[in-house]
Amino acid sequence: MRHHFRVGHPIHRLPDQAGTSTSVLTVEDALGAVQSALVLGGTSEIALAVIDRLAADRCRRVVLAARDTAGAAAAAEHLRAAGVETTDVIEFDAADISRHPALIETVFAEHGDFDLVLLAFGVLGDQATFDRDPVAAANAVTVNYVGAVSTGLSVAQELRRQGHGTLVVLSSVAAERPRKTNFVYGSSKAGLDAFAQGLGDALEGTGAHVLVVRPGFVKTRMTAGLPPQPFSTTPAAVADAVVQGLARKRHTVWAPPILRWVFALLRHLPRPLWRLISAR
Ligand SMILES: NC(=O)c1ccc[n+]([C@@H]2O[C@H](COP(=O)([O-])OP(=O)(O)OC[C@H]3O[C@@H](n4cnc5c(N)ncnc54)[C@H](OP(=O)(O)O)[C@@H]3O)[C@@H](O)[C@H]2O)c1
Repeated sequence: MRHHFRVGHPIHRLPDQAGTSTSVLTVEDALGAVQSALVLGGTSEIALAVIDRLAADRCRRVVLAARDTAGAAAAAEHLRAAGVETTDVIEFDAADISRHPALIETVFAEHGDFDLVLLAFGVLGDQATFDRDPVAAANAVTVNYVGAVSTGLSVAQELRRQGHGTLVVLSSVAAERPRKTNFVYGSSKAGLDAFAQGLGDALEGTGAHVLVVRPGFVKTRMTAGLPPQPFSTTPAAVADAVVQGLARKRHTVWAPPILRWVFALLRHLPRPLWRLISAR
């Protein structure tokens, strides 16, 4: 079935096993398991690994908001095979910031409450290209940071209204200390990370929660062709860390966890030493 949002974004809705596609209001069950999720950046390999993990538990309703709706529809098929009963795909561009408030409001109005919203969109880019093309650099920052602010605040309004739910934000260890080889990306993640921490504190006591995730180098299409960094990990391992963080109501998780201690040291290294070791 296909229908349209009030804001004009097409939806691909895949029917559940009974052949219906109703929107249901759900909340976390008695054990706190996630039953419904909205993914912003619905083709992200890390995000899909998280939903896969949650589907093995009790996640049964998922909306994938993506720029590449065909790719997201293929991912939705996979999620259904993994146990998700109702999947929807909606068109979403993280750079189209003026549309975000209406888009988020409509998704919640039409699909019901969400236990989890996963903010997973992002672009890595290439520092040498950014050096030559400042507009490309600013566009990447718009996606990684500005688009996260407009969607994150819109989601926060809905979670406050619900009185429950977690916003999971895919930050990065790159937020901890800028490297000369990818400082545009790092600065955008630093902004995102600070925003997500502040939002989490602002939501304290409302029933809504923010989980900041700081992965290191994850082997996905984003990093394809790049030399692996120390402590490289996989989307499945990041998903495990996220699911564990959700169960423990953490405000921050690192993936792998050892990076927390590695960066506790690295962020205090003298600049000349940091310049040297962060150059690769
Ligand atoms: N891989 C790593 O090493 C790593 C490490 C730390 C943090 N992260 C962060 O984790 C998140 C997910 O990354 P990933 O590794 O899963 O890579 P990925 O598979 O390439 O996912 C990135 C996602 O961002 C989406 N996106 C990019 N620009 C967009 C836009 N303008 N509008 C809507 N969606 C857009 C992509 O959509 P399209 O399919 O349309 O391109 C894709 O779904 C990102 O925020 C990334 O910065 C990744």
